[in-house]
Amino acid sequence: MSSPGSTFRSVHWTGNSVQIIDQTFLPQKEVTIHLTSVGQVWDAIKKLKVRGAPAIGIAGAYGLFLGIRELPEGVFGTFYKECERVADYLNSSRPTAVNLSWALKRILDTMYSQKEKPISELKQLALETAILIHEEDRRLCKAIGEHGAELVPENARILTHCNTGSLATGQYGTAFSVILHAHKKNKVKNVWVDETRPLLQGARLTTWELQKEGIPFTLNIDSAAAFLMQKGEVDMVITGADRITRSGDTANKIGTYNLAVLAHAHNIPFYVAAPYSTIDLNLENGSDIEIELRDEVEITHSGNKRMAPKHISVYNPAFDITPNRLITAIVTEKGVLTPEYKEKFEKLFG
Ligand code: MRU
Repeated sequence: MSSPGSTFRSVHWTGNSVQIIDQTFLPQKEVTIHLTSVGQVWDAIKKLKVRGAPAIGIAGAYGLFLGIRELPEGVFGTFYKECERVADYLNSSRPTAVNLSWALKRILDTMYSQKEKPISELKQLALETAILIHEEDRRLCKAIGEHGAELVPENARILTHCNTGSLATGQYGTAFSVILHAHKKNKVKNVWVDETRPLLQGARLTTWELQKEGIPFTLNIDSAAAFLMQKGEVDMVITGADRITRSGDTANKIGTYNLAVLAHAHNIPFYVAAPYSTIDLNLENGSDIEIELRDEVEITHSGNKRMAPKHISVYNPAFDITPNRLITAIVTEKGVLTPEYKEKFEKLFG
């Protein structure tokens, strides 16, 4: 199977720091920054300098190493308690994407399982696990693209939301990887890119990535999706996910649920693409997922200019929940899963 090898990587471990493209400057400027402390990683995640569920898991994993590398190498119990404290701190940056807590727990568990080793070696183990998580995500995203491309019809007009490409993952992306792999098979006629209010991940980032890859696309305002579907201009919808529960209920960027309802009403398949690190078997239903509420300024202002009157009530959830019954299939690295999701998740990822 032909495979795109040219896509860039937005996160790098330099040996001493985490190097990221600061996504808040895109697409105007490609600014690379180096994060050398856990505080800088927390800030970069919080401010969406690095964003997208798998990418914040990867950045968080390196952040944990940065936060523990200078810890005193005394007794294991004291060291491990500090590691947990650093992990809790990183976890407090953004609550909805499970990939962050998943990556941090994986590193803590790995160190704990080898607690008889000297602390200097455990620190090294933490870094090696972070690198493993990073490399693994690249492989998973590639596999997601290969599986998902099979779902894409010839001459496909695909609608997507938010940004799910190399910026949001180790490489290739999730939903973006499906589009990328389908494009390599000459199946993509047009990608409808939702601008993705309020932070415009679609307009700023997905267009930038599609342009880089030479994939045909058209930018549209979020609220044009219904009209596009009504006119028969959309063959499929595909998005990523920030957390998928046992039942298949899925948290993703605010506006995703709207698309799922619309796709259902117009008899258009609605797909979700995500690696196993996004599947949270500890939660049963979407209502159990904590939804991040963000600053009202993201809605009341456009850049530095105030657009809404002062002293008003503002509601700015960053994500919403799409119920499993509206999801035609979930594309994972292990293949395309159709409902019922619960049994399949337990069998494949339990
Ligand atoms: O707030 P963001 O930009 O981090 O939200 C990102 C999304 O909602 C993506 O769709 C999701 O993380 C999947 S990305 C591979």
